[in-house]
Amino acid sequence: MQNPINEIENQALQEIQQAKTAEDLEVVSIRYLGRKGLLTAFLRSISSLPEDQRPAAGKNANLLKIKLEKAIARERSNMAADSANQPTGIDVTLPGRRRKHGSAHPVTQVLDEICGIFMRLGFDIVEGPEVETDYYNFEALNIPKYHPARDMQDTFYVSDNIVLRTHTSPSQPRTMEKTDPPVRIISAGKVFRCDSDLTHTPMFHQIEGLMVDENISFGDLKGVLTTFVHQFFDQQTALRFRPSYFPFTEPSAEVDIQCVMCRGEGCRVCSKTGWLEVLGSGMVHPAVFENVGYDTARYTGFAFGVGIERMAMLKYGIDDIRKYFENDMRFLGQF
Ligand code: DAH
Repeated sequence: MQNPINEIENQALQEIQQAKTAEDLEVVSIRYLGRKGLLTAFLRSISSLPEDQRPAAGKNANLLKIKLEKAIARERSNMAADSANQPTGIDVTLPGRRRKHGSAHPVTQVLDEICGIFMRLGFDIVEGPEVETDYYNFEALNIPKYHPARDMQDTFYVSDNIVLRTHTSPSQPRTMEKTDPPVRIISAGKVFRCDSDLTHTPMFHQIEGLMVDENISFGDLKGVLTTFVHQFFDQQTALRFRPSYFPFTEPSAEVDIQCVMCRGEGCRVCSKTGWLEVLGSGMVHPAVFENVGYDTARYTGFAFGVGIERMAMLKYGIDDIRKYFENDMRFLGQF
């Protein structure tokens, strides 16, 4: 019969060789070296051997224990090295993924562009509050309580005398109260109206302009607004000044531009008229000057208000104003 220690050795070495995974190795290790392992059991049984055989058996068993531990450790590190060399599924020759860059919102871009045009014409920029008093939003602009013109704008009331501003026009009296003529300002920002459809959202943006000095005439109004339209669209865009009504200007005019889609031929966008309304304007009403203490005999001025979303829609051919506020990357990424 074979020496039991040799039998354990042969068997154990063979199993170590055959182990394919770290788990297999662990099983072998436990089978021979674990607390109830075969070699461990043999070591324990040595005390029952005849006395003269004990020293040799003990020595051999301990040597085998060390040998098996080393063999298992070597096999383990071979396995680890093999798995490090395995392909990991990463193809380093693939082109990298591009990072998406953010960009200014189209409304911001158009706002910046329009501000730039007026700044080059010598206008300063002022800002006003979005939560406004009834006085600046209406009264100071010659729209007393119960004036029918209040119905032109569906107002969000915060309280009896506080509103979300319905237009940027309050920046006119606010500026004039603080500054003596000459005044040449624009004021841009959010305005609010209780209105929502294809061409209206409850919040949108406007730019207000105001120019006051001695001898300012309707000719100045036409000159400045024509320059603005030509710079924003192009030099060929025709304009017309159509009589209109605003309580804070007299005379008042709405400005139409030749339809940018059909060049005046008549299409769906301009309702077959060939013209598109783009802004409101007029000569500042003397009542507004009186409210801010300006000398109406000495000073005249003009004012105008432009809707930013509408200008951007016309410039970029956008047909639904709500697209601006849906934050759809496919839409925003085009600008
Ligand atoms: N505030 C007007 C509106 O929101 C637009 C407007 C018209 C502004 C005439 C003006 C102006 O300054 O002179 O409908």
